[in-house]
Amino acid sequence: MLSAQEIALRFIDTRLQVHPDVVRYIQEQDEPGLIDRILAQVPKDTVVVSTKHIPGLHATRDGTRFLLDPSVEVVSGSSGTSGPVNGTGDYLHYFRDRYSRLGGMIRSRMGAMPIEGLTRNTRYRQEECTIIGMVVDVSTTKNGHRIAEIEDTSASMSVLFRKDRPVFHDAERIIHDEVIGVKGKLSTDGRLFFAEHLYRPDIRIDNTPFKSEQPGKAVLISDVHVGSNTFLDGAWNRFADWLSDSDYGYLLIAGDLVDGIGIYPGQEQELTIKNIYEQYDAFGAMLSDLPSRIKIIVSPGNHDVVRGAEPQPVIPAAFTKKFPSNCTLVENPAVVNLQGVRVMMYHGRSIDDMIGLIPGASYDQSGMMMEEMLVRRHLAPAYGRRTPIAAGKSDRLIIDPLPEILHTGHVHIKGITTYRGVLGVNAGTWQSQTAFQKQMNVNPTPALAVVVDLQTLVPETFSFAEPAR
Ligand SMILES: [Fe+2]
Ligand SMILES: [Fe+2]
Repeated sequence: MLSAQEIALRFIDTRLQVHPDVVRYIQEQDEPGLIDRILAQVPKDTVVVSTKHIPGLHATRDGTRFLLDPSVEVVSGSSGTSGPVNGTGDYLHYFRDRYSRLGGMIRSRMGAMPIEGLTRNTRYRQEECTIIGMVVDVSTTKNGHRIAEIEDTSASMSVLFRKDRPVFHDAERIIHDEVIGVKGKLSTDGRLFFAEHLYRPDIRIDNTPFKSEQPGKAVLISDVHVGSNTFLDGAWNRFADWLSDSDYGYLLIAGDLVDGIGIYPGQEQELTIKNIYEQYDAFGAMLSDLPSRIKIIVSPGNHDVVRGAEPQPVIPAAFTKKFPSNCTLVENPAVVNLQGVRVMMYHGRSIDDMIGLIPGASYDQSGMMMEEMLVRRHLAPAYGRRTPIAAGKSDRLIIDPLPEILHTGHVHIKGITTYRGVLGVNAGTWQSQTAFQKQMNVNPTPALAVVVDLQTLVPETFSFAEPAR
């Protein structure tokens, strides 16, 4: 199989640059003659060869989506979906489900063999082959190579990613409990697998997002934190007035609706509303002041009253008495269809974990964090860290079906990205810097709303912050 550098050189030889997605596609197909077929069809004035120049690769969506409700439809995460956890049996089901669904996404692009079959039969020792497994452990050796223990349903295998190979860059970002595919060769003693390529479940490069045929715009926000003394009520009032003058159809709020109580030590000193019911009453009154024609969709976050383990259930009725009737409560995570455009709402607690595990990641890169979720097709890959996960029979944190928009929050810093056709939006917060954030050197970007046009999927950011004097 050609390396990425060899593929790039083939294109440079003909004075063309090549997009990394095309390089990856060529590697995955491993088909002799594919580069020549691409080069034969590239128009004369092309500078960069992109996926549209790959012969036979067409849009995977036909542009039709059947909807029971033409405006808002909850695809997953409706009230009552997340049940309780019943002992260790569910953990087994949970991880099996995670492995089979994410592994299936990789397997749909390439053949792979069971780990046990590879080790049992010596005839594979010198052959290049692919195995798919869940990462049980990952570490760096004393010589600076990366080593991962991966496991499928048959056996486990130690996989070495040498620091002098191109695959090392991908291997540095391996996270516990994610599902990966590796292509390479087994050592002669059959105990170690030398990886040359790493594959993640990822998004197909020919993914073509669905776009609404009807006009419609959605406003995306999160982290309102009502009840905190740093909640920006002046900015919120400007936002509410602006919404009243707009013709936007949808408002989505991705968690941390209120500041909550007992979330961190000493929080009571920073609360203007110290009663949790009153915090939700104040939030409900704010939503009631917005135009009733706007369909509001609300999911919880780690500051909300429900259990912290994800999937988090909807906010219980005892707390939503003041919420208006145009408000739909969903779980965290949830997928909603807006005029057919799928929006996956996820508060984003796992970003705390990913920042600690991915080299170079930081809180002001929520766009990059959303890409890391999409490439793994999982909202919270690392299990047993700061993101509590309630292991049910199926893994609700898998990103499937693929949405057009991934809407997150939690980090309080705006981030927008587009990865293989999927738009990632984190709109920030409605709370100014807290004492804790100051201590941690986190600089929030408050009072922003991101509006997405459902016909084009183009985002636009509006600020309601106090004008600078
Ligand atoms: Fe928050
Ligand atoms: Fe949060």
